[in-house]
Amino acid sequence: MKTRILFLLLLCAVILATISLVKSGSRIRLAGNDQGYQPAQPIAYSHRLHAGELAIPCLYCHSGAEKSRRAGIPAAGVCMNCHRYVTDVLGAVRAEEKLAGEEGRDPVPQTSLELKKLYDALEQGEPIVWKRVHSIPDFVAFDHRPHVAAGIICQSCHGAVETMERVRQEASLSMGWCVRCHRDLTGRTEAGKPVNPPLDCVACHY
Ligand code: HEC
Ligand code: HEC
Ligand code: HEC
Ligand code: HEC
Ligand code: HEC
Repeated sequence: MKTRILFLLLLCAVILATISLVKSGSRIRLAGNDQGYQPAQPIAYSHRLHAGELAIPCLYCHSGAEKSRRAGIPAAGVCMNCHRYVTDVLGAVRAEEKLAGEEGRDPVPQTSLELKKLYDALEQGEPIVWKRVHSIPDFVAFDHRPHVAAGIICQSCHGAVETMERVRQEASLSMGWCVRCHRDLTGRTEAGKPVNPPLDCVACHY
């Protein structure tokens, strides 16, 4: 009898643990393989909208990829180049104009809830703490510059970011992934640039 109650308690504990694991699924990061990692961000910023529909070039916001090791995440000021004027999606602005017309009054300026977070952060002088998606260990040397200069497009390593509502880690970023491309991509890149990717250990490990 006693062992049976113990067994049932144990079963409940396992079920509860499983449920909480599944619920927090997107936050679990397996050591050495974060493929598919797609964390929620503090502002629901969409690459599908900005890089896809609006066709803003990747380098407009990630200019670091050409000039430094890191591609970098744009500061809020870059967003304000447009969002000083665009305070809500066109649909919401049009809907308010229509309603105001019907009610015979001036339209009220519209501000989207997501963009309000951007304005609040700027007003309070606080940075937006974006969640890091891609990350390789410190003992690996990765630099965006030589790759971008060789004419390898962002999508070769990051997938079709311009279709993603929320950025997802497409590649495994494992050593095998780096080495496979370095081994196979000899001669010329698609952009026609002659390249010679290194395969020796010290090229990638200091
Ligand atoms: C209008 C600005 C803007 C444009 C254009 C843009 N991005 Fe981003 N990008 C961001 C912001 C802001 C973040 C951080 C929030 C997030 O992850 O969505 C980000 C995050 C990323 C990340 C994940 C960074 C990490 O934490 O690992 C990748 C990869 C990325 N962008 C690639 C691209 C590519 C490829 C393009 C072009 C197809 C592009 N971006 C266009 C603003 C931009
Ligand atoms: C080149 C102009 C431009 C830049 C730069 C830009 N945006 Fe936008 N963004 C727009 C436009 C235009 C819309 C409205 C699209 C529509 O009407 O559907 C928009 C819509 C949005 C929305 C959707 C609002 C909602 O409620 O759905 C969010 C959130 C947003 N932008 C965040 C950002 C952030 C954060 C940055 C900086 C990393 C940024 N934008 C940079 C032009 C821009
Ligand atoms: C050869 C593969 C490769 C290419 C090409 C590439 N990236 Fe990356 N990217 C990576 C790797 C690997 C990381 C993780 C780096 C780290 O953790 O230090 C990364 C990280 C990032 C990050 C987040 C961290 C950072 O560096 O600031 C952004 C944003 C990003 N890439 C954007 C881009 C954009 C935009 C392009 C195209 C202009 C691009 N990447 C081209 C492999 C690549
Ligand atoms: C899609 C193919 C591709 C992937 C994936 C890739 N690389 Fe490369 N990498 C290249 C090419 C091409 C070059 C050679 C550029 C040249 O010769 O001008 C290069 C060059 C390098 C160099 C030499 C830089 C220099 O200054 O000469 C290092 C270091 C490097 N890559 C590290 C990495 C690491 C670390 C990863 C994985 C996280 C990685 N690469 C993933 C294609 C790739
Ligand atoms: C083109 C880049 C590249 C080259 C060349 C390279 N590595 Fe790596 N290596 C990596 C990356 C990236 C990781 C991190 C993998 C991860 O986080 O899953 C790594 C991880 C490792 C690890 C940690 C254990 C592991 O598997 O995660 C060891 C040990 C290692 N490398 C040894 C070597 C040796 C020895 C050589 C030469 C024969 C070498 N590497 C060549 C990119 C490279």
